[in-house]
Amino acid sequence: MTAEKNGAPGGMRSQAWFRGFSRDVFIHRSWMRNQGLPDDTFDGRPIIGICNTYSELTPCNAHFRGLADKVKQGVLQAGGVAFEFPVMSLGETNLRPTAMLFRNLASMDVEESIRGNPIDGVVLLTGCDKTTPALLMGAASCDFPAIVVSGGPMLNGRFKGQLVGSGTSVWQFSEAVRAGTMSLCDFAEAEACMSRSAGHCMTMGTASTMASMVEALGVALPHNAAIPAVDSRRGVLAQMAGRRIVEMVREDLRLSKILTREAFENAIRVNGAVGGSTNGVIHLLAIAGRIGVKMSLDDWDRLGREVPTVVDLMPSGRFLMEDFYYAGGLPAVMRQLLEAGLLHESALTVNGRTVAENVRNADCYNREVIRSMSNPLVSSGGIAVLKGNLAPDGAVLKPSAASPHLLRHKGKAVVFESIEHYHERIDDPNLPVDENSIMVLKNCGPRGYPGMAEVGNMGLPPALLKRGITDMIRISDARMSGTAYGTVILHCAPEAAVGGTLALVQDGDEIEVDVEKRILNLLVDEAELARRRQAWKGPELPSGGYQRLYCERVMQASEGADFDFLVGTRGHAVPRPSH
Ligand code: FES
Repeated sequence: MTAEKNGAPGGMRSQAWFRGFSRDVFIHRSWMRNQGLPDDTFDGRPIIGICNTYSELTPCNAHFRGLADKVKQGVLQAGGVAFEFPVMSLGETNLRPTAMLFRNLASMDVEESIRGNPIDGVVLLTGCDKTTPALLMGAASCDFPAIVVSGGPMLNGRFKGQLVGSGTSVWQFSEAVRAGTMSLCDFAEAEACMSRSAGHCMTMGTASTMASMVEALGVALPHNAAIPAVDSRRGVLAQMAGRRIVEMVREDLRLSKILTREAFENAIRVNGAVGGSTNGVIHLLAIAGRIGVKMSLDDWDRLGREVPTVVDLMPSGRFLMEDFYYAGGLPAVMRQLLEAGLLHESALTVNGRTVAENVRNADCYNREVIRSMSNPLVSSGGIAVLKGNLAPDGAVLKPSAASPHLLRHKGKAVVFESIEHYHERIDDPNLPVDENSIMVLKNCGPRGYPGMAEVGNMGLPPALLKRGITDMIRISDARMSGTAYGTVILHCAPEAAVGGTLALVQDGDEIEVDVEKRILNLLVDEAELARRRQAWKGPELPSGGYQRLYCERVMQASEGADFDFLVGTRGHAVPRPSH
């Protein structure tokens, strides 16, 4: 972060705003002084931005004011100055049509807020699913000194003596109500028992997956993933991150020195070991694209295939994030991968140490929660990438959350043209469906929804639920919640709305799935597909506004669903003056 590199006059980048006695410097300093700042605030010490996704409409991040205060204390202790700034917050449970529609928008907010302001480093406060990738994508495009602090998971949910996991139990309870095995009264009571404290989903859903990914990538401190939000040690971690970012600025430790290809390969393997969310695939592809690391879906398949899932957490297993922390957290998992030769041990992390130095002495305190590599939950974890004429550019499936008997299957398609069409048809007792059918949902991809909603884990028809059927193959261009489970094939690319083969599937068509061979084929002959393709008409684009921009420029899921014009780094040079 030298002056020469950034066009700043001496010392820190922030000095381009605050050093000297020109008219512009008067403007920059004087207005800031209305916050009661002493002279030495501007003497060249590192100025740290705290990028805050606090919002009461994002319940997972609603405790972030306190967390920001802890970061600030750390920054001050290390001789820096901290300024907190808000960016767009993305609450998974409230935002419609889907928080994913706004991930790229929030990343632009972050990127421009970092580059346009007098800061030398940034702490990214992230929690709910999309807030982690959005902030890291924005910071990566600035190639800036940055450290991620996750808000931490909620405490375990409990209902009638049983563990209740965010999301995972909601899907189970809702199917039980539809099957007539759970009363509405119990359903309402369970709602109050699930979310017991501040924090994000405490299953290994997308938020916990992304908190694990940033720790595995080395852009967060060890134990970032699992410390519960309300555990006092979460405050310690935030404070230590505040201290460390000041040192990182002095060392010019920018994201490109940490987010290397080796770091991404480590993260993909860790994702397999923790049974992470399919959403992690899209987000890591997008982050890699921003920092200039070439990653593809094939990397996910190749690197994850040999990794056993050892963390026994919902949705793949039994326990929750609070148990995971007490069992040793992510360092205990990474130590096993390290000893198995599955990690790049010399990858650098934000604390200045390598991955190996961080995890080689990590202990495991509970072998039920963090199992050994020789006794895993699933022997081949990771994410399976299926290809064939139904998804020439790939589709994903999480084997650890799927039913083994459906991993090789042929069945007849039951097709839903949209999520509304699904809702209209699914309760129809005359729907021609049985447990061997394959449910196909179209037009829920990046452009089709728009924003690629989490609707891929369609509930089963009630008639089958009542017969005790709990899983069927479902295929779509949608995503699913990281808390969901089942034999659900997602992210079909190209999506239906851009004319992918998915758009051509009709009721009764035969589909072949073979996960071991990575095959996903529509068994309809080419002449018939050509005839259907001729008759196909794409959906209309939104008439204007952000949604129009999104549909025109979003890339497919297989490329991370980023905007094509946001790929790459644009640096953090000081922009031209505003006055
Ligand atoms: Fe926010 Fe799950 S809804 S993390």
